Amino acid sequence: MAITDRPPLRDLNQNHIIDVPLTPRTHAVVERVQKENVATHISGESSRRVSYLPELGAIVYPEEGASFKRGSDKRIYKAVLIVGDEMQEVALASPHNRFMLRSLSEEQEYLCENAPHLAEKKVFEAFGKERYIERFYPDGSFLEFKRKENRSEDFIERALRYFLATSKDLKYRFHDHELRHGDISLANVMLDGKNAQLIDFSTVKKAGSDTSLKKDIAQLADILRFTVLRRQFPNVSKVNDLYCEMKGKAENRPTIEEVISSTEEIMAELEATTKGQS
Ligand SMILES: Nc1ncnc2c1ncn2[C@@H]1O[C@H](COP(=O)(O)OP(=O)(O)O)[C@@H](O)[C@H]1O
Ligand SMILES: [Mg+2]
Repeated sequence: MAITDRPPLRDLNQNHIIDVPLTPRTHAVVERVQKENVATHISGESSRRVSYLPELGAIVYPEEGASFKRGSDKRIYKAVLIVGDEMQEVALASPHNRFMLRSLSEEQEYLCENAPHLAEKKVFEAFGKERYIERFYPDGSFLEFKRKENRSEDFIERALRYFLATSKDLKYRFHDHELRHGDISLANVMLDGKNAQLIDFSTVKKAGSDTSLKKDIAQLADILRFTVLRRQFPNVSKVNDLYCEMKGKAENRPTIEEVISSTEEIMAELEATTKGQS
């Protein structure tokens, strides 16, 4: 079963998790994982906190160390989900901030009711804490891209392309459904090949009025500020104009459609100039 096949909420709520002691049987699974090289960190079983998800018939093994991320609210581990003979890389998260806006199950419940297309996580309880699993993005976040690729020659083109992909994701999965994301930042955009997707849905809410969508636009503008506007390039003034509009008075801010078309124009011009130079 693919983990994206979300069971109905009722199943998620009834989900009871048992901790699996590392019996010879689970040990055999660990060995298989090692042999097939899906998770190289699986060894030294004493520190492993393996969970069994009966509703999925699956086992989750967190990987150690390297792929551990700490956000402001959650800790994210890379893990391997084993369903029968199938293995899948997943992100496994547990909250570590007591002041979190909503608990994971509250978030899941809210999304199931108001935005079922966004309710893609599996929420469960293990070792006395709520956790979730969702697909793992091996390409990392926009923030990591910026840090690693900042000096590369085609940084601007790629950053603009990811900015456009982020804007389209914001349009199609959020603003078109009158939902605001509420926490748009470089760390909350995951890259996926040429595509980009927003994560971290703890602030997602029905928009109510246009103003909360306009707040998203102002947050989205910071992605330009911290990437493209850090560098000089021929069309920087147009990017700066777009940035200023997006940061302007709420009623004058562009809609997400307008942001998308302006970005496409800037990218087309940039492509024309680069072609002209070569
Ligand atoms: N599904 C995922 N796959 C890969 N990395 C992830 C995934 N989800 C989160 N991360 C990493 O963990 C960080 C924190 O996750 P996030 O859900 O934004 O938590 P927080 O609410 O604490 O900000 C992200 O910035 C990203 O680097
Ligand atoms: Mg985050």
